[in-house]
Amino acid sequence: MFSLSKFGQKLCNQSGIVTLMDDLGDALRNNPDMIFMGGGNPAIIPEAQVTFTNALNATLNDENTLREFLGVYQPPQGDAGVLDDLATLFQHQYQWPITRDNIALANGSQSAFFVLFNLFAGEFAEGSRKQIQFPLAPEYLGYSDLGISENLFTATKPGIELVGDHFFKYHVDFSALKITEKTGAICVSRPTNPTGNVISDEELTQLDLLAKTHRIPFIIDGAYGTPFPNIIFSDAEPLWNDNIILVLSLSKLGLPGARTGIVIANPKIITAFAKANTILNLATGNLGPALLRNLLSTGKLMSLSKECLAPFYRQRMLQAVDCFQSALNGLPYRIHQPEGAIFLWLWFPDLPITSQILYERLKQRGVLIVSGHHFFPGITENWAHKEQCIRVTYCQDPEKLRQGARIIAEEVFKAYSQMAISV
Ligand SMILES: Cc1ncc(COP(=O)(O)O)c(C=O)c1O
Repeated sequence: MFSLSKFGQKLCNQSGIVTLMDDLGDALRNNPDMIFMGGGNPAIIPEAQVTFTNALNATLNDENTLREFLGVYQPPQGDAGVLDDLATLFQHQYQWPITRDNIALANGSQSAFFVLFNLFAGEFAEGSRKQIQFPLAPEYLGYSDLGISENLFTATKPGIELVGDHFFKYHVDFSALKITEKTGAICVSRPTNPTGNVISDEELTQLDLLAKTHRIPFIIDGAYGTPFPNIIFSDAEPLWNDNIILVLSLSKLGLPGARTGIVIANPKIITAFAKANTILNLATGNLGPALLRNLLSTGKLMSLSKECLAPFYRQRMLQAVDCFQSALNGLPYRIHQPEGAIFLWLWFPDLPITSQILYERLKQRGVLIVSGHHFFPGITENWAHKEQCIRVTYCQDPEKLRQGARIIAEEVFKAYSQMAISV
């Protein structure tokens, strides 16, 4: 028998991200027929697979790169060659004044967020406590349990704009957003997981200004965003300056197995980040950086994002919207405006069961979705909306998507019918 520290207990409690990853694993192992609309896996896109295979072969066929690939630890910030190539890309593409000193690599962006959040929030030397503020919840469920200390997050409920009969969109509610001396940093994912929202350029600029005014960093999670993998269907400019920490990832490009995250920030933050990351990881892995180097030198990183991924996911998104509109016809539902990422966020107003119960019923029927209540890190108050939404991924092939949408509609119909009966 053993007892766990507070930190151990916190990490080993039931958390949304662990449940989600368990479900992904179990579903894949136990039920190959499961309609898999739950996870964050990117789609397997043939053209992207060919590009990655070529990049891998080029690495394996070169004796020098192969030796480094297998036999060398990276320095704390990551391979200097990749950092230089990335800096050149950002300078040329966006005129950002960036050198290798502004960039660090990580073993996946998830681990980068662990370091960043705990660098800027928690207990401070003089006894004060600070928190990370999410100005637009719902937000990525993977953030929820990243705090070493308790209550690391606060969040602001969004403004909800109803669009037509069956769509809606969240906006940052600046009148409700409170940045105080207890705020350690502001963080948004753009596009947002789970909603597919893309915070507008104006909202982003306003948040940037707020962060600067309060002398706190502004963290932008670009896991799905600009410049790559660019899974964005609306107009959105990338933003970076000395006060912004932009976190990118190779995962949604199609390489989640490479576990590579990229942090772009001012050199002081990068130095702090690299030290912490070295203590945690010793070094980042070599697979992602090796592939990245090849994709940068061939120009494939940007062309794949723009010419392959964005159109592919846009088409899948349109098919998904069509499937759900047909399946849910006649029911009360709203879909968040799908502006990016790989999910639809469905809202069933006044749903008489919780989204968690809906999730369980759907799992029984062989459809895996994610209950929306996981996606409100920092919102502790009761709010019915938290229990009325689900997230579905549209990476599945369209036929599976259609079957999944039909089963979801049947269960939602049953839930609303029960309400009618009990009234
Ligand atoms: C918004 C967002 N940020 C970060 C991550 C973490 O990604 P990774 O650690 O694979 O880079 C994910 C994964 O799904 C995500 O959706």
